[in-house]
Amino acid sequence: MDGQEQFEALIAADARVEPRDWMPEGYRKTLVRQISQHAHSEIIGMQPEGNWISRAPSLKRKAILMAKVQDEAGHGLYLYSAAETLGTPRDRMTEDLIAGKARYSSIFNYPALSWADMGAIGWLVDGAAICNQVPLCRASYGPYGRAMVRICKEESFHQRQGFEILLELARGTDAQKEMAQDAINRWYAPSLMMFGPPDDDSPNSRQSMAWNIKRFSNDELRSRFVGMIVEQVQVLGLTLPDPAIRFNAETGRWEHGPLDWEEFREVLAGRGPCNSQRLARRREAHEEGAWVREAAAAYARRQNATEVA
Ligand code: 3HC
Repeated sequence: MDGQEQFEALIAADARVEPRDWMPEGYRKTLVRQISQHAHSEIIGMQPEGNWISRAPSLKRKAILMAKVQDEAGHGLYLYSAAETLGTPRDRMTEDLIAGKARYSSIFNYPALSWADMGAIGWLVDGAAICNQVPLCRASYGPYGRAMVRICKEESFHQRQGFEILLELARGTDAQKEMAQDAINRWYAPSLMMFGPPDDDSPNSRQSMAWNIKRFSNDELRSRFVGMIVEQVQVLGLTLPDPAIRFNAETGRWEHGPLDWEEFREVLAGRGPCNSQRLARRREAHEEGAWVREAAAAYARRQNATEVA
């Protein structure tokens, strides 16, 4: 069997493709695109919550939020490492990000305005991430699927902590309840858009699904997410800002009201509420971290020299 045949046999058997295996250039490119975008999302995603660490309402909340933000950094690192096994160095991925040439999730271009946003981000944003990412644990590319297993475990904790923040606010004073509702109202639609454009407008889905990278379409996963939160919001005693939500018994799917896809396109084009701020902060952090990278590289060189000697 030649490389192409071997690759096709692995995909047909729903088996794993490993870095040493031959793979079509398109498959490699798709993976680098998706995994690096995902890594960038984790790293940029530290910002909206990182801004609230110093304003957390108690020591316990501060410790939890700090752990969560650190987890996101870890997720970024696993994902950059997975992408590197495909031959693209991390430096290049980072350069593309800070030059504004790479994508990262639309969701992180919205501002976190109140403490309740920490709850809404955990519950809705990490909830959407779990819905989207659990199937990626079965992605055909081995290093990606394995990284996703650990990431999903940690995301579950993130989602629970967000839900718990909202639950406590929802059971608090009227002002706290109002703050929780306001956060849900603002994060609901952007979290639905995280799943990507509608299926008819998703140029990559068909091929990614044929290669067993994506397992479900954007709309299928979005509908599952709506079904999940429509029940959970009742436990909170709050509401979703979408009176059109309904279960369609014929299609077996949850349906939601119209989303503003023009807004989504604007955010992707770099014109969302926080795009320039997020990139500027990332660029600044990269520049300020140069000495750490230099020190780590010098240490690694010294270790290597000692081992050789
Ligand atoms: N934000 C930014 N760009 C998006 C997007 C979003 N929410 N949804 C889609 N896009 C982009 C795609 O990247 C693609 O652009 P490109 O061709 O230039 O790369 C274009 O819109 C068309 O979309 P498609 O549906 O054709 O693209 P995909 O097949 O790649 O599907 C996806 C998009 C569902 C986001 C898929 O890439 C995916 O599942 N990625 C892995 C998960 C991921 O990246 N998650 C980030 C979420 S945040 C997170 O994980 C952090 C956590 O802590 C919350």
